[in-house]
Amino acid sequence: MEKLSPPRHIAIIMDGNGRWAKKRGLPRTAGHSAGGEAFRRIANYCRTLGVEYLTVYAFSTENWKRSADEVSGIMKLLAKYLQEALRDMEKNHVRFCFFGDLSRLSPELRKLCLDAQQRSSEYHEVQVNFCLNYGGRDEIIRGIKSYAQDVKDGKADPDTLTEELFSGYLDSAGVPDPELVIRPSGELRTSNFLPWQTVYSEFVFMNVLWPDFSPEDLDAAIAEYHRRNRRFGGV
Ligand code: IPE
Ligand code: IPE
Ligand code: MG
Repeated sequence: MEKLSPPRHIAIIMDGNGRWAKKRGLPRTAGHSAGGEAFRRIANYCRTLGVEYLTVYAFSTENWKRSADEVSGIMKLLAKYLQEALRDMEKNHVRFCFFGDLSRLSPELRKLCLDAQQRSSEYHEVQVNFCLNYGGRDEIIRGIKSYAQDVKDGKADPDTLTEELFSGYLDSAGVPDPELVIRPSGELRTSNFLPWQTVYSEFVFMNVLWPDFSPEDLDAAIAEYHRRNRRFGGV
């Protein structure tokens, strides 16, 4: 297959870990661990393709509803992953950013996130936006609160508020909107992922479970993206 140039910004809902594990008779946590490997694989592939931004949905504001065991298993895996990322930072040159409300994470995990963000801030190969305790509505509410504070402090004036200005109050401030959103696992919904940023994104829903997601699957999604006719409301 001919390689098509990738969009600048790809966003992925990393879904299907639990079903992947169930199919194999394994605990759900084993699925999350395999999902972490898939993330490593795809982030690396995006780097070689020259993708500028990769935004991944790792844990939603709704995912706290899961069993305490599953949640703590996911948090442990995230901490392990970030420790490894910090160790390999000089080699990978991936720039890490975090979207979501980190205040609900444990102090240890929050510190790992902030360290990864700070220590990778000079890298420019691919920017990975890791969505952790992320919810699109929560992001908008937090953005409104900080905008309202600026109004109170006399630093902002509602009469001059624009879409572009408000975008600067979101976790994604400064990041262009994703052209392509991919959801593996067969579900046909967005589950509170980037509602503000994806109003004109192309969505590709795929029937593969995230731990099985391969570079060829990403190529297929990019090819599908190139077949779309983006009109942005025009003709
Ligand atoms: C995605 O996989 C990972 C998280 C939401 C944390 P799931 O755990 O949702 O996997 P399924 O959807 O149950 O297969
Ligand atoms: C969305 O997947 C969240 C992440 C992948 C992190 P879910 O599995 O939580 O979404 P629903 O419950 O199927 O909508
Ligand atoms: Mg799921």
